Amino acid sequence: MAKRVLVADDEKNMRWILEKNLKEWGFEVILAQNGEEALNLFLEEEPDLAILDLRMPALDGMSVLEKIRSINDKFPAVIVTAHGDVDSAVRAVRLGAVDYIAKPFTMEELRITLLRALNVGELNKEIEFLRHEAAGPAVLIGQSRKMSSIFQLIEQVADTSATILITGESGTGKELIASAIHNRSSRCRKPYIKVNCGAIPENLMESELFGHEKGAFTGALNRKLGRFDRAQGGTIFLDEMGELSPNLQVKLLRVLQEREFERVGGVETIKADVRVIAATNRDLEVMVNEGRFREDLLYRLKVIQIHVPPLRERVEDILPLVEHFIQKYSSELNRDKLRIDNNVIDVLKKYNFPGNIRELENIIERAVILSAKGTLSLNSLPREVLKKSLGPRREIVTLPEDGVSLEEVEESLVRQALDKADGNQTQAARLLGITRYALKYRMEKYNIDLKICFNKPE
Ligand SMILES: Nc1ncnc2c1ncn2[C@@H]1O[C@H](COP(=O)(O)OP(=O)(O)OP(=O)(O)O)[C@@H](O)[C@H]1O
Ligand SMILES: [Mg+2]
Repeated sequence: MAKRVLVADDEKNMRWILEKNLKEWGFEVILAQNGEEALNLFLEEEPDLAILDLRMPALDGMSVLEKIRSINDKFPAVIVTAHGDVDSAVRAVRLGAVDYIAKPFTMEELRITLLRALNVGELNKEIEFLRHEAAGPAVLIGQSRKMSSIFQLIEQVADTSATILITGESGTGKELIASAIHNRSSRCRKPYIKVNCGAIPENLMESELFGHEKGAFTGALNRKLGRFDRAQGGTIFLDEMGELSPNLQVKLLRVLQEREFERVGGVETIKADVRVIAATNRDLEVMVNEGRFREDLLYRLKVIQIHVPPLRERVEDILPLVEHFIQKYSSELNRDKLRIDNNVIDVLKKYNFPGNIRELENIIERAVILSAKGTLSLNSLPREVLKKSLGPRREIVTLPEDGVSLEEVEESLVRQALDKADGNQTQAARLLGITRYALKYRMEKYNIDLKICFNKPE
């Protein structure tokens, strides 16, 4: 597929020459007249490379590069500087420009610079891929019966092209399971493209999924590939499926049924060799009953359904997960591995984990950071967790709505205790859980005279 080059230059002639030559060399060209436009097009068109003129009004090439770097620190960009402006060239390279080229340059010089920059870009992608490989696929931890049967199901379905629907509360590991399925399939060396159906505004979603042709709508200056295009041969993960608008539900149904789609504004029908995995924390059956989700789409999606149970329904997984996260964060933060106090797991097992494994992971990360003594103890757990797992305290006395005088209560309790113990101070002190000396002090404070009250000597 032709590489796409973003050219930003405020001089019309320069744009014209660059466009003409780049097209001759087989590139697709995206033109911007100033820095701001360049930045917008970078975000919208996702080019493979940018040629940025240093001197442009408003946002100059260096500022554009800086912004691009903050979004993608590996994106290959070439800065065009004025002849002899060594300072700028140095600054550009420091900012991470892959290369620079000084005006005036011959087209051959430009071609070589571009090819070199593209190579660096490809190399970076390769390094990224290898780094990911070296880190190994994310591990799925779980010993409970429920998780074991999920693992079994994953093994059975991974290497088929069946559409899969993963359901479960937030933080139960749906996304991790989706990537595990891709990694275990024969598509694992092909793209794995994620789409968060809840995060993309509805009016952009169709072109995001299926791409658009040049001129499809105002602002569609160039052809854009959609996520289905980019996932060819691989897997697309549609997260937060329940958020998909009715209009797009129809379009997605078509892809699942016919395995083909059209770009927005396009006439060509494109075959989709893409495996679809969808996930949601909503109850799609309920949404179908409420008329908010298409029933036919639901049936197409849940050819295979994997329901991930909440953590509170598989407490056997808590210990292995805690050990796994301790290992992960101790090595990430360069700390000694925490020892786990006996009662911690018991307390965690009683907690209901509304945020599921994500919440447990955060709790352990926090504990690894905060635990000074190398032990994961109850003190390292957030108060919220302790309060909820230990349950509300049984109150022995309820505070009246309009308050009470603590001294009066104390005096009354001391008198009652003495009464019950028939004036025996040792017994009364025991009933109150205080020493005989402390009782004596209170008797004096409240003027309790044993001789008068119980006819007993002091
Ligand atoms: N079985 C597991 N073993 C190890 N880590 C897990 C497991 N399940 C989940 N995690 C970790 O918990 C976190 C949350 O998981 P994930 O993002 O997959 O949840 P989710 O179900 O997609 O949540 P949401 O519905 O909020 O998107 C991630 O950091 C993930 O790595
Ligand atoms: Mg998720």
